[in-house]
Amino acid sequence: MKTKRISTKMEKALNEQMTREAFQAQVYLSYASWAEVSGFAGISAFLFKHSQEERQHMFKFLEFINDRGGRAKIAAIDAPPADPKDIQDCLQKTLQHEIDNSKSIDAIVNLALEEKDWATFNFGQWFVREQIEEETLVNNLLDKYQLAARGNEKTANLYDLDRDMSAAPQDAPIPRDAKL
Ligand code: FEO
Repeated sequence: MKTKRISTKMEKALNEQMTREAFQAQVYLSYASWAEVSGFAGISAFLFKHSQEERQHMFKFLEFINDRGGRAKIAAIDAPPADPKDIQDCLQKTLQHEIDNSKSIDAIVNLALEEKDWATFNFGQWFVREQIEEETLVNNLLDKYQLAARGNEKTANLYDLDRDMSAAPQDAPIPRDAKL
């Protein structure tokens, strides 16, 4: 049993963020499945990998809470939202999820500063950096989409976009490649 080194308020905030990361994973899993059946294998692969990354974020929160003497409590996750209308909608919604999540991380860092909880403040910095990377990644993909959707050769350009997205850098396998 570890000595509790986070406040009860912080423990609650970190638990809520852990659940939020799990929710993000479900959202991207749902979008990935939608993209796969819509014929976009590359975009689907990107989203499957992104979903796995969100689960890894959830694990980071779980371990941090328990390491600091709190108790990571696994809670129910809300159902993912409705399917996107099209690829642009999918990317815009993905960006909005990331921006909302960045704000949620900022709130934890603010609380850590307020409480002079430097361990959590330090832990939170990893996520602050990660969110910058993730927002940039999705913004870049939206830029690519704008280029791809321009002109009359939509089909060929979307093909290129889909191929680019399958190669977007992420550290997780897609279900097809996962070792069981
Ligand atoms: Fe774990 Fe993309 O937020």
